[in-house]
Amino acid sequence: MTSVLRFTDLASRGALAGKRVFIRSDLNVPQDDTGRITEDTRIRASLPCIAQALAAGAAVMVTSHLGRPTEGEPKPEDSLAPVAERIAELLDREVLLCTNWVDGVAVAPGELVVLENCRLNRGEKKNDPTLARKMALLCDVYVNDAFGSAHRAEATTYGIAEFAPIACAGPLLAAEIDALTKALADPKRPLVAIVAGSKVSTKLAILQMLAQKVDRLVVGGGIANTFLLAEGLPFGKSLAEPTLVGEARAVIDAMRARGADVPIPTDVVTAKEFKADAPASVKRAADVAADDLILDIGPETAATLAEVLKTAGTIVWNGPVGVFEFDAYAHGTETIARAIAASPAFSIAGGGDTLAAIAKYGIEKAIGYISTGGGAFLEVLEGKTLPAIEILERRAREGS
Ligand code: 3PG
Repeated sequence: MTSVLRFTDLASRGALAGKRVFIRSDLNVPQDDTGRITEDTRIRASLPCIAQALAAGAAVMVTSHLGRPTEGEPKPEDSLAPVAERIAELLDREVLLCTNWVDGVAVAPGELVVLENCRLNRGEKKNDPTLARKMALLCDVYVNDAFGSAHRAEATTYGIAEFAPIACAGPLLAAEIDALTKALADPKRPLVAIVAGSKVSTKLAILQMLAQKVDRLVVGGGIANTFLLAEGLPFGKSLAEPTLVGEARAVIDAMRARGADVPIPTDVVTAKEFKADAPASVKRAADVAADDLILDIGPETAATLAEVLKTAGTIVWNGPVGVFEFDAYAHGTETIARAIAASPAFSIAGGGDTLAAIAKYGIEKAIGYISTGGGAFLEVLEGKTLPAIEILERRAREGS
């Protein structure tokens, strides 16, 4: 992403002193029933931009969505108050929370104000131009640092970027795009992708896109079952999508026609029931019985894939290959995770379950880049241009 204006460049040029800076972050973090934040990675990942803006002497406003509230109908659970508190703790400074902010925000240089959940504003989701214009008037510089929301064309992710005097990409957004560009646009080969998850249908576009790019496409989870079926292998009573066998076959054929490969599991771990303590059996993929559930790849398959990962130049990882939440069915995912960690390849990982697996095996530091995006990460893998990035590129072309 060389074609967008970067916030870090503006900051280092001293262009932010005394300016009103509006940062759109993705602070949409999980909370428990009492509102306590249960995981704050996205908040921590958003701090460098906020801290840089403050250090540069700007008057700083930061907003985000939290959940999917009804516009114009605020409820206590929609509030960014716990997020503002966490930012205050982490930055060890005072942070104000401002509601009803669209028509004006009182913020002085060196101050930080969190603007209440932007999805409470009527017109946010539909990218209403009147709302976007009003928000643009609040600032001198608009910064999009919300990769997790970059696939949404909403008023704070798109419209404001059209109308603000200056529109640029924050350090988190820039880092995400740089890592994805490194992995997908100009990868060191062999490029290996691991795409796992329950259904082919939800990841078909990704599989089709990657089939044109990668050298090895490793499928796992329920997705692998549909590929087993496409190869004429039994899948017992496991989750699979027989109606998508043709599409799975086409992915395998497209890969093979390019001299690339979709490694199909040679052995699997099965159970008769979907339960943590259900007895596990390791068997050849060809020997899966009609009443078996495939819950993991087998040790032979895991070892083969670990070898593939060892010699990869680039690895893209989305999805655990088995039910890693149950210890008896975690071996495949753990082997893959540790192989990625040990590989000299540049690796990029994204998606909620993938992040949980990375955390479970404590390999965060050994992954080249861990994306903060869920849906946005998947849309990039599908080959889509994300609207929030498209508008920043347009503004840069127009010389914002
Ligand atoms: C996410 O959690 O993936 C992002 O914050 C986007 O949320 P959304 O799907 O509600 O737009």
